[in-house]
Amino acid sequence: MRETNPVRYDETRGCWDVFQYDDVQTVLTDFETFSSEFGSGLGGMSKDSAVDLTDTMIKRNPPEHERLRGVVDEYFQPGYLRKFRDDFEELARDQLDTVLAAGTEFDFAAEFAAPIPASVIGEILGVPRDKREVLIGVRPGGEHTQEELKAYITELVQRRKENPRDDILSEVIHATPDGREMTPEEIYNFCALLLLAGSHTTITLLTNALWMFTKHDLIADIQAGVIDLDTAIEEVLRYQPSVHTVERIASTDVEVNGTTIPEGDQIAAWVASANRDPQQFDDPETFDPERSPNPHMTFGRGIHVCLGAPLARLEARTVLPVFFDRVSDVSFATDERDPIVGPTLYGLQTLPISVQT
Ligand code: HEM
Repeated sequence: MRETNPVRYDETRGCWDVFQYDDVQTVLTDFETFSSEFGSGLGGMSKDSAVDLTDTMIKRNPPEHERLRGVVDEYFQPGYLRKFRDDFEELARDQLDTVLAAGTEFDFAAEFAAPIPASVIGEILGVPRDKREVLIGVRPGGEHTQEELKAYITELVQRRKENPRDDILSEVIHATPDGREMTPEEIYNFCALLLLAGSHTTITLLTNALWMFTKHDLIADIQAGVIDLDTAIEEVLRYQPSVHTVERIASTDVEVNGTTIPEGDQIAAWVASANRDPQQFDDPETFDPERSPNPHMTFGRGIHVCLGAPLARLEARTVLPVFFDRVSDVSFATDERDPIVGPTLYGLQTLPISVQT
């Protein structure tokens, strides 16, 4: 499609698809022409989600987007997040202990990776460890509902109002970017957005990383420092991105690469395709753990560029070494793969492995 039909209308989905790197970049950066205000920017995720994203930054254009993101931006910078590193390591170690206590054959995705991202979000929000079940369980088919999450967050906000602590929730509650505090509804929406945008995507990143590193026999080299883990993670993000498309709506008639998209039409910008565009990447179909530079578009671009990208990177760079330090000889328990099916999210639902300790 990238070569033969780079901008096309899909009748079945009622949506335009944009496949080339430069066009995807244009759609994501020109926020005036390509609006986020229509449903969700990560639409495929919210449609079947337990959490409603109607009033969050991901679905807002400026100036509302600036206000909502402005409150929290500084707490998602690498410098601020670094202080959580030891906590993330401890979380990963505890999770690995639990998994290995039951045996050396397990599903990396469901048994090891799945609870970690929601628990990490609990860590940065200041949710006590024994109270994170609700955060982890709010997902399609999960054991907790949006109402339970809302009741829990509302109570937590009240407690932090009375007793601020050194966590992002306390900072957000007391921040007044335009002279007024965030409303309880806005604070709840923000927490729900973090869980929705930050849980599944990062489970998938951890799982895709183990999948790729095992498949390409890289774990020993990563442990020995022969292959740089940070660089290899960027290549996982490029080659197997957790998010395949980002959605927008045309706010005016607009020409993209010679094709006119009418005002009001929906557009899917295929970051997964941009990530393999030979105009941008040499040998794009090859997984190269030493690829550098690697200007992939997995975290989006422009004003909506992923707020949680530094958190997802820190998580992968912290959790995977804990795993590699404890286990050796990782092998796949099956050659069958069961990818998540849908236009937005991509990754494996399960990754059964066996390891030696
Ligand atoms: C936005 C991908 C992890 C929070 C985005 C966007 C993408 C993306 C493509 C842009 C959406 C758009 O332009 O409409 C990913 C991937 C992740 C990841 C691939 C993991 C590998 C996280 C984490 C968090 C998070 C861990 C927070 C805990 C957000 C938020 C936005 C966002 C709040 C909206 C930003 C805005 O509208 O200004 N993400 N994300 N993401 N992401 Fe992530």
